[in-house]
Amino acid sequence: MSGNHPGLSNTFIHSGEKFEWSKENLQSIKKIISRYPSERKQSAVMPLLYLAQEQNDNWISIECIETIAETLSMPKIRVTEVASFYSMYNTQPVGKNLIQVCRTSPCWLRGSNKITDTICKETKCQINETSEDNLFTVVEVECLGACSNGPMIQINNDFYEDLDETSTKQIIDNIKNDLPNKVGSQKGRRSSENA
Ligand code: FES
Repeated sequence: MSGNHPGLSNTFIHSGEKFEWSKENLQSIKKIISRYPSERKQSAVMPLLYLAQEQNDNWISIECIETIAETLSMPKIRVTEVASFYSMYNTQPVGKNLIQVCRTSPCWLRGSNKITDTICKETKCQINETSEDNLFTVVEVECLGACSNGPMIQINNDFYEDLDETSTKQIIDNIKNDLPNKVGSQKGRRSSENA
């Protein structure tokens, strides 16, 4: 998954506040860095970007990049290069639930357009937009690697598969009502076993 989400800005912005690691993340960082030879601690840049994004409401600000560069004693541009290459790092603020709809051929043939329409209707946002209540951001992406269970979407770190309009609406409703969602197949399939 390389390149940022089509349509979302690929430009990093300031949050306006210095980014400081939480106590828990400082502990995790120690462990992560210890996996690498001391002269290669820059290799920890991807897990640190992941931690920073989690701590920073799901996006990487310029301040996050500065703190990561400082922690790993590496130039800011090197951290920026990595963060801008992978679509899993968000270069601007996104809603609490980042919905990525797969639009590649296998999912498209199984009706991903209807899933996109349902999501846009239920979240009241268009593709590449964030809802007014900041609960959702909706983007379209290329293959997420669960083609045999399409159509599918990813919401933050979880996959929702074998979707139709009804199950998609239910997932969105549950999020709005702060209710848990079942991840994976919405039709009871185990993994990608024969339907
Ligand atoms: S085509 Fe949708 S997950 Fe691969």
